[in-house]
Amino acid sequence: MRKDIILCGHVLSFLASPFDREDPKDAAQLHEAVLLRAGRVVELGSRAAMEKLAPKAEVVDHGQKLIMAGFVDAHVHYPQTAIIASWGKRLIDWLNSYTFPEEMKFGDPAYAAEVAGRYLELTLANGTTTVCSYCTIHPESVDAFFAAAQTRGQRVVAGKTCMDRNAPEGLQDTAQTAFDQSAALIERWHGVDRLEYAITPRFSPTSTPEQLEAMGALWRAHPECLMQTHLSEQLDEIDWVKSLFPNARDYLDTYEMFGLLGAKGVYGHAIHLEERERHRLREFGAALVHCPTSNTFIGSGLFDMGGLMAEGHRIGLATDTGGGSSFSMLRTMAAAYEVGQLRGRPLHGAELLWLATQGSARALRIEDKVGNLAAGLEADIVVLDLASTPAIAQRVAQVDDLWEAVFATVMMGDDRAVAQVYVAGEPVQH
Ligand code: GUN
Ligand code: ZN
Repeated sequence: MRKDIILCGHVLSFLASPFDREDPKDAAQLHEAVLLRAGRVVELGSRAAMEKLAPKAEVVDHGQKLIMAGFVDAHVHYPQTAIIASWGKRLIDWLNSYTFPEEMKFGDPAYAAEVAGRYLELTLANGTTTVCSYCTIHPESVDAFFAAAQTRGQRVVAGKTCMDRNAPEGLQDTAQTAFDQSAALIERWHGVDRLEYAITPRFSPTSTPEQLEAMGALWRAHPECLMQTHLSEQLDEIDWVKSLFPNARDYLDTYEMFGLLGAKGVYGHAIHLEERERHRLREFGAALVHCPTSNTFIGSGLFDMGGLMAEGHRIGLATDTGGGSSFSMLRTMAAAYEVGQLRGRPLHGAELLWLATQGSARALRIEDKVGNLAAGLEADIVVLDLASTPAIAQRVAQVDDLWEAVFATVMMGDDRAVAQVYVAGEPVQH
């Protein structure tokens, strides 16, 4: 078995949500060292205490670097890797012009495998150890993604994206094939190693009522799975949904009426919510996922982090690759800060780091496994250099405390800030 490892540096652990503290910093604790054994965190504390616990451990000194849980990206589309940063469209045109043509290619297992591997390498290089991804309608795209994550030992969530209308011919399944193929994929992958399946109707405009009904039935048959979809991203989209479902009370109701509202539901974007929707989502304890670089890039709107957190919603953070314009959760935190500013609620560095780790892990209901450094959790870790570029270093040279230094990297950092990544306690080579 692999030797015990002690990582030394500024080791960050959260004791609570910074959103629940008057001073967000009070939710965090800093330690000198963390002890890893057999892929898990054993204990945090002083270096001397860790060395006493494991006298034979290999000690890796990361100096002044920040050691924290690997980032958890709660909403991505790995098949959109190659069309990231495509110019000039809003949601529906963007889907039709860029996304659907690219997603058509994923019936080819070789192409799917190539992009899945490329995507996981890009995100690992950015310090992201867990993602929750949409695949395409092709079961091959799901096999490729889970196989790529399994090879790397990663904890991921993913599912076959189901669509049976308002998409190109080659990118549609049916209510029945969506049910059957999703069920077969759950059987093949859910709970294997660190892999989890999410039932994935893309959004109500691309599913008939029959398909949404079938997805609801599948979820009832597999309550162990998450269900992920999109909700209230753009105003045009909401108008379209209302015209497609004239009997629905609102956008959320197009899911609710088919049994697609639940505690393990993960709803991407959720920007333009009506009062009833906010109330029902909160009542069910469903998760909302904020995708700030996507929301500004596609021109969707400004997520109400302050208001929704105050109401007690479960909220994660995500890149939404490739509607989002970056693979980096640092860049995503910066965008969340900027969106917060535009809504009059600037987020603290502790809140941003929490959202990118614990917040997303809670949204995906895996907070007992990843998203924090605490005894017993899986040792997925990112080590951040807080002076990774001359621009950041000169800023950090005059800060007064660690949180100011962290904030400079949140706002200006990129993959150069990622000094090391550990997946299940193993260093990732890059
Ligand atoms: N709504 C439905 N599908 C998508 C997608 O692929 N990206 C984004 N941003 N929104 C969506
Ligand atoms: Zn999305």
